[in-house]
Amino acid sequence: MTRLLRIDASARTTRSLTRELADSFVQSWRERRPLDEVVLRDVGANPPPIITEDWIAAAFAKERSTDQQQLLMLSDGLIDEVASADIIVMASPMYNYGMPAALKAWFDQVVRIDKTFTFDLTRGDDPLEPIFAGKTLILLTSWGEFGFAPGEPNEGHDCLTPHVRTASRYLGVEAFYQIGIEYQEFGDKRFEASHKAAFATLDPLVETLVGELGLHSDLRKSAA
Ligand SMILES: Cc1cc2nc3c(=O)[nH]c(=O)nc-3n(C[C@H](O)[C@H](O)[C@H](O)COP(=O)(O)O)c2cc1C
Repeated sequence: MTRLLRIDASARTTRSLTRELADSFVQSWRERRPLDEVVLRDVGANPPPIITEDWIAAAFAKERSTDQQQLLMLSDGLIDEVASADIIVMASPMYNYGMPAALKAWFDQVVRIDKTFTFDLTRGDDPLEPIFAGKTLILLTSWGEFGFAPGEPNEGHDCLTPHVRTASRYLGVEAFYQIGIEYQEFGDKRFEASHKAAFATLDPLVETLVGELGLHSDLRKSAA
């Protein structure tokens, strides 16, 4: 059985394009693999708390008090969800050129020393190493604007995609895909075309991922 972790990050629980993309992705997956498990973590509707000084002290403590264990309980549960997942479906809008604060709060709760990565200075200038391996992440996004790719008018303004891509290495992500809808704020023909193209890309991507499942489980085995 393959396990999917779906993360919804839009603050909108209705009329959300990223949630619609995730709905379609999961539906398409279930049509092909009805026995797979899908876990939903809705950080848009229920944002995790921002980490604090006490949280950091607890995360780095070698031995923890009962209060510190309590403080890390949510983080432990969120990390368990990531650990169990083979595929992470992350539905996130762009807010102010980056990820929504709720999703950043989730990353801060989940990327944790000796839980999702190790830090060892004997590794020289690359002291960080992820603990998990072989996961796939699909970023389903939506932009009000358009043209964030190289050579386009908003080149260099997309801080969402590179941020998710870089941080997700510490979730054990080795394969990264992205599908996005542009022009949402324009609501014109260009938006309609981009909307159609994004939804049309979902099915073939699911088909590819389902086809590659054997390869990814081999990767996980060799990393274990
Ligand atoms: C608070 C906020 C900030 C936004 N910032 C940007 C932005 O910086 N660039 C952009 O292209 N679109 C921006 N948008 C537009 C959203 O990315 C767009 O509406 C998207 O469809 C929202 O996702 P959703 O439909 O899943 O809620 C912003 C929207 C909101 C609500």
